[in-house]
Amino acid sequence: MSLIEDLNWRHATKAYLPEKKVSEENLTKILEATRLAPTSSGLQQFRVIVVEDKELRKKLAIGSLNPECMVEASCVLVFAAWDEYTPERIDAIYDRTTEERNLPKGRFDSYTDKLKEMYAKQPKEEHFIHAAKQSYIGLGMALAQAAELKIDSTPAEGFDNKLVDTVLGLPEKGLKSVCLLYVGYSDKERDWLATMKKVRNPMDVFTIRM
Ligand SMILES: Cc1cc2nc3c(=O)[nH]c(=O)nc-3n(C[C@H](O)[C@H](O)[C@H](O)COP(=O)(O)O)c2cc1C
Repeated sequence: MSLIEDLNWRHATKAYLPEKKVSEENLTKILEATRLAPTSSGLQQFRVIVVEDKELRKKLAIGSLNPECMVEASCVLVFAAWDEYTPERIDAIYDRTTEERNLPKGRFDSYTDKLKEMYAKQPKEEHFIHAAKQSYIGLGMALAQAAELKIDSTPAEGFDNKLVDTVLGLPEKGLKSVCLLYVGYSDKERDWLATMKKVRNPMDVFTIRM
């Protein structure tokens, strides 16, 4: 199937078969597609927390728009972004890049100095907003990879961020939750969206050509 067919196939699944698990191999593919997402300045400023533990998920479901998906999906991917841009975080990824590419130490210093100067002028809140935007690119990759594998998923912002952060200990990791992806197999009897037409603006409305 082509990517377009995969994207037409997928839908925001509203109910999952609780007993049907996504294989470890396929979950790894979804995570790998997400890991390969491009990010601004290559900072890779988001992480994915894979939550499988049911008891933990029951806690996360409080205040969620889709409490059943939270517990019944095969797993929940929590996209979490850096809570701030620090010189140490910027250096860590550029040190890795320099080393893995066998480049001379300090090869990117002039660029990272500019980044550090730019981010030092901004409040932490703006850092998080910028980092959160990067995590949505990863979310898109994960959605597409899941669809290619014929695995159902639901992107979700309808959850209690503060609660999720606390339950998963994200502040201690320097992270804040952004969005979720429920992943699993649709329970067609309860998943009311499964049979409905996908509705999008027509191309001539969606696209503005100049
Ligand atoms: C960032 C984002 C957040 C969303 N949050 C939720 C949510 O909390 N709960 C839910 O049931 N659907 C959620 N959705 C699903 C959208 O409503 C759905 O993708 C949209 O209506 C298009 O339908 P489709 O995905 O089936 O093509 C979200 C989608 C995106 C992209």
